[in-house]
Amino acid sequence: MAYTVPKLKSFTPAALDKAVEKLLAALKLEAAAVKNEADWKVFRDRWMARKNGVLTEINDLWLKAAPKESKREVGQRVNSLKSKVEWQVDNTYQEITQLDALDKLIGPNESSFRKDVEQARRQRQSDTALDITLPGIRRPLGSEHPVIKTMHEIVSVFRNLGYSVEEGPVIETDYYNFEALNFPPNHPARDTQDTLFIARQESKPQRDRLLLRTHTSPVQIRTMEKMKPPVRIVIPGKVHRNDPPDASHSPMFHQVEGLAVDANITFCDLKGTLDHAMKALFGSSVKTSFRPSFFPFTEPSAEMMVSCFICGGSGKRGSEPCRPCKQTGWIEILGCGMVDPNVYGFVDYDPKKVSGFAFGMGADRIAILKYGVDDIQLFFNGDVRFLEQFG
Ligand code: PHE
Repeated sequence: MAYTVPKLKSFTPAALDKAVEKLLAALKLEAAAVKNEADWKVFRDRWMARKNGVLTEINDLWLKAAPKESKREVGQRVNSLKSKVEWQVDNTYQEITQLDALDKLIGPNESSFRKDVEQARRQRQSDTALDITLPGIRRPLGSEHPVIKTMHEIVSVFRNLGYSVEEGPVIETDYYNFEALNFPPNHPARDTQDTLFIARQESKPQRDRLLLRTHTSPVQIRTMEKMKPPVRIVIPGKVHRNDPPDASHSPMFHQVEGLAVDANITFCDLKGTLDHAMKALFGSSVKTSFRPSFFPFTEPSAEMMVSCFICGGSGKRGSEPCRPCKQTGWIEILGCGMVDPNVYGFVDYDPKKVSGFAFGMGADRIAILKYGVDDIQLFFNGDVRFLEQFG
């Protein structure tokens, strides 16, 4: 029995979906029965003729007849049906004309080829090739990775202080990663960096040899080469070190570096800036503490500790020992110091006129502390069950 557009007794979404489903099933069936151009014309007029085509009928019998409160629901379905019918009519025409054209091309002796065309024609008529009534494919939205999110938070704290953002290459030269940062060639300080070197660089002079940058500090040099003081920048980025992976190490991790160079910058500015940043990141009650350290490119150098925001600095959680701060009440969060005057020599700054400070922190470590994650590997295994908890 040929399909006729029914009058609707009910306009609930469920009733509407049923009616739409029936109509689309009929459309599919009738399209499959079209064998030639003459059939197709009849098919087209039945569905699309302005005066009494099916589309006109659903407009009159469904949309116009719908009570006011259902108009929207009906309107959406009628619109979608319109485009589906138009697509089907168009596509059916393409199919039959292509098969007809093939038919004409086949000579009388090419019977094996004709079999293929016949098969394609039958295939089209059984029309299993495309079910236009199936729902579309839903693509889930992604969200920011927890480490990237943490880097953005750190960067935005410094942007609010007037710092701008710089980036640099992950594959670096020995010059930028070491030499210009005052690591002399063959100096033992290089060994502390567990560098991953790019193979087959031996024929180049040492300073041109490529490696995976072990810290974001080379971007300090790249920036000072192209920018005159005053400089206030943060540098987020990926770094690599030859560390075997475990719960707290990954051969790839992330740093956020900072550099401020101007006239009369002092260690007080360093302390004030970093203390403010830590309060912005971890809450206004955290304290900071600085201990002497060594980096070739800063003098003096320090490690900065933040009072443990897990246990509040007591070293204990109830009667349990606090693990993140190893019961000390302090967490080491970054390396920093005043830019070593030797570094200015590499970038043509005058150490008599300018001074500055630099710092570098591990973004993954900060993310671990912020989110209470117990294994850095979880960040990089790509398991959505872990990652989607941060969306
Ligand atoms: N680049 C150092 C590191 O990765 C950290 C640092 C940056 C120290 C800037 C001082 C100044 O260990």
